[in-house]
Amino acid sequence: MVVSINRVLDRFYTGLYILQAVLLLSISSVSLAGPFDGGNKKNGNILHGENCRSCHDSMFPNGKGDDIYDEDLRKIKSSKALYSMVEFCATNNGLAWFEEEVIDVSKYLNQTFYKFEN
Ligand code: HEC
Repeated sequence: MVVSINRVLDRFYTGLYILQAVLLLSISSVSLAGPFDGGNKKNGNILHGENCRSCHDSMFPNGKGDDIYDEDLRKIKSSKALYSMVEFCATNNGLAWFEEEVIDVSKYLNQTFYKFEN
């Protein structure tokens, strides 16, 4: 009788450990997921190269428009503001981008330059 109670307790604790492990895993995967999680960085790079880079390039004497995203020059301070600026620049330049394309370019810019974590 004593043995069987111990077995039941054993199972109970094993179950708890598994539950904890699952919970920990799901928490850490949430914190690993950055902003623009669903975006396609590769497509963002292409879209940015085709539509955005040349104008930024023309703003810098050295022709390196990507300098605008440098930490000491940038004005954008959050992933939310980044999304809005990408959308604003796209709309302003006559690009009828879907939300997906704005997310793709935001993801590309974030992972390459801004590195916002949430
Ligand atoms: C016709 C010129 C032009 C084009 C095309 C253009 N931009 Fe810009 N962009 C600017 C200018 C000018 C600024 C600086 C605005 C400011 O500092 O207030 C800017 C600033 C930005 C910034 C903010 C940088 C920072 O952190 O300070 C982002 C992000 C940006 N542009 C994204 C884009 C994207 C994405 C595209 C393509 C859809 C694009 N731009 C196309 C002129 C352009």
